[in-house]
Amino acid sequence: MLPGAWLCWACLLLVARLTQPCPVGCDCFDREVFCSNEELAAIPQDIPPHATDIVFVETSFTTVGARAFGGIPNLTKVVFLNTKLRHFGPDAFGGLPRLEDLEITGSGFSNLSTDIFSNLTSLSKFTLNFNTLEALPESFFCHMDALESLQLQGNRLQTLPGRLFQPLKHLKTLNLAQNLLVQLPEKLFNPLSSLQTLRLSDNALSSLPQGVFGKLGSLRELFLDGNSIKELPSEVFSQLFRLEKLWLQQNTIGHLPPSIFSSLGNLTFLNLQGNALRMLPAGLFAHTPGLVGLSLSYNQLETVAEGAFANLSSLSSLTLSHNAITHLPAGVFRDLGELIKLYLGSNNLTALHPALFQNLSKLELLSLSRNLLTMLPEGIFDTNYNLFNVALHGNPWQCDCHLAYLFSWLQQYSDRLFNIQTYCAGPAYLKGQVVPALKEELLVCPVTWDHLGFQAPNLEDREPGGSWDLAAEERAARSRCTYSNPEGTVVLACDEVQCRWLNVQLSPRQGSGSPGLMYNASQEWDLKSRCGSVRLTVSIEARAGEP
Ligand SMILES: *[C@@H]1O[C@H](CO)[C@@H](O)[C@H](O)[C@H]1NC(C)=O
Ligand SMILES: *[C@@H]1O[C@H](CO)[C@@H](O)[C@H](O)[C@H]1NC(C)=O
Ligand SMILES: *[C@@H]1O[C@H](CO)[C@@H](O)[C@H](O)[C@H]1NC(C)=O
Ligand SMILES: *[C@@H]1O[C@H](CO)[C@@H](O)[C@H](O)[C@H]1NC(C)=O
Ligand SMILES: *[C@@H]1O[C@H](CO)[C@@H](O)[C@H](O)[C@H]1NC(C)=O
Ligand SMILES: *[C@@H]1O[C@H](CO)[C@@H](O)[C@H](O)[C@H]1NC(C)=O
Ligand SMILES: *[C@@H]1O[C@H](CO)[C@@H](O)[C@H](O)[C@H]1NC(C)=O
Ligand SMILES: *[C@@H]1O[C@H](CO)[C@@H](O)[C@H](O)[C@H]1NC(C)=O
Repeated sequence: MLPGAWLCWACLLLVARLTQPCPVGCDCFDREVFCSNEELAAIPQDIPPHATDIVFVETSFTTVGARAFGGIPNLTKVVFLNTKLRHFGPDAFGGLPRLEDLEITGSGFSNLSTDIFSNLTSLSKFTLNFNTLEALPESFFCHMDALESLQLQGNRLQTLPGRLFQPLKHLKTLNLAQNLLVQLPEKLFNPLSSLQTLRLSDNALSSLPQGVFGKLGSLRELFLDGNSIKELPSEVFSQLFRLEKLWLQQNTIGHLPPSIFSSLGNLTFLNLQGNALRMLPAGLFAHTPGLVGLSLSYNQLETVAEGAFANLSSLSSLTLSHNAITHLPAGVFRDLGELIKLYLGSNNLTALHPALFQNLSKLELLSLSRNLLTMLPEGIFDTNYNLFNVALHGNPWQCDCHLAYLFSWLQQYSDRLFNIQTYCAGPAYLKGQVVPALKEELLVCPVTWDHLGFQAPNLEDREPGGSWDLAAEERAARSRCTYSNPEGTVVLACDEVQCRWLNVQLSPRQGSGSPGLMYNASQEWDLKSRCGSVRLTVSIEARAGEP
């Protein structure tokens, strides 16, 4: 019984195959055909005539002859991925009135002639990514009136003929990224009145003609990142009323015309990372109130003017890291009531104004890492109710009384804070300690000489006729390390930034009756100051016969 049943299944499969033939080396699924056999030496002759989609992956045939798919009139999609295609016959994809999607990606051809694709009037998506195309003839897209998406990424195009895109009135997406474009003809994009996305990333553009985007009133997203643009003409974006995202990162822009973004009322994302900006002109963002994300990192900004972000009331992420910012005006972030993330890391900030983050009640993430901060002013985070991610590492925090606010803030919110790698850079005896783990009483400032009850010299002691130089005396006293032992605690205090010598002078009590010591003694002190922490043990050994 059992062997019979197996045989019967085999019969059924055979029948199925006979009724629905599929070329050797391909798999057929209803109306879709996938051919991924390296040994396929030509386009198979027996592709099912009702197929609508056909995909070739890593096949080795090199030629698509004239009207190669003529027997499959209902084809809507033809794809070649990483194949060895080099040659195309005239009208290679002709006779396919329903062809909508044609893709040839990852083949090595460097030129294509117009007659290959001349009849593709129904094509809406045309993809020629990652080939080695060096040029395209001016009439290449002739009759492709229905085209909505054109992908030419990753080729070797250096220039494009001025009238190349003339027929593409319905084009919505144009991708020219990762080519070798050096210049763009001023009128190249003029016919593309429906264009919504234009990718020009990673080319070799060093300048842009003033009017190059002048007719792109529908554009939503423009990628110009990864070029060598030094300067932008002041009107270059002036007609892009609908632009929402503008990517200008990784260029060499040194300055921006003040009105460059003033027509971009719908802009939500602007990336200027990795340019050479030293300052931001006043009013640069005055007309882009809808901006949600702004990155200015990896520039050479030394500061940002007070009103620079005044109109950005929707901004939720602001990145200013990796600049050379040494100071920020107190009110620079005052109007950013919606700000959630603020990146100020890797700058040269030495101090922050106590009101700097005052209005940022929605702030959740703040990076101050890798600056030159030694302390934070009292109250600086008092209105940042939602702040829970603060990067503070890489600053020379001075763990003394001035750090008390930060310390108690960190302790108070320790349950919701994370990523707190905050180490003391000084004083020496606390170096390397984690700030929130310290004991609060260690955050002391050096006691100055007058706090120790230094008595002003008695005027009586003045040398007759000599003028008492109080200032000189004060300097001398300050430069001395002093210790006192009021209630059994030893404090070494010193106003010098560094105390390098500790001079212990033994003064036997008056009336001990002897110039020398008559007994052995040992005493230990813990000395703490800016100079460091040291356990000092003084042992005195008296030996008979010595003075
Ligand atoms: C092509 O599609 C049409 C309509 O959908 C259908 O009538 C025709 O039979 C199909 N042709 C082939 C060869 O399958
Ligand atoms: C490219 O041009 C060369 C010579 O001009 C020609 O032999 C070759 O077939 C062309 N390739 C394509 C894909 O048209
Ligand atoms: C394809 O274009 C050629 C001229 O380029 C024309 O002679 C031919 O009739 C067209 N074929 C179809 C199916 O439109
Ligand atoms: C934003 O775009 C809309 C169309 O999407 C347009 O009507 C409006 O004028 C634009 N806003 C500004 C400020 O340009
Ligand atoms: C931008 O902000 C400034 C200062 O707050 C204000 O005077 C100006 O009217 C604002 N501009 C726009 C276009 O909102
Ligand atoms: C920023 O600080 C670093 C380290 O102190 C210094 O090397 C660099 O020159 C400073 N940059 C500016 C622009 O001040
Ligand atoms: C920001 O804070 C200032 C006080 O420093 C206040 O006058 C102003 O109204 C606040 N602005 C916003 C938008 O909250
Ligand atoms: C002090 O100690 C030394 C050696 O430890 C000993 O020789 C000497 O007698 C002691 N002197 C006194 C006064 O106890």
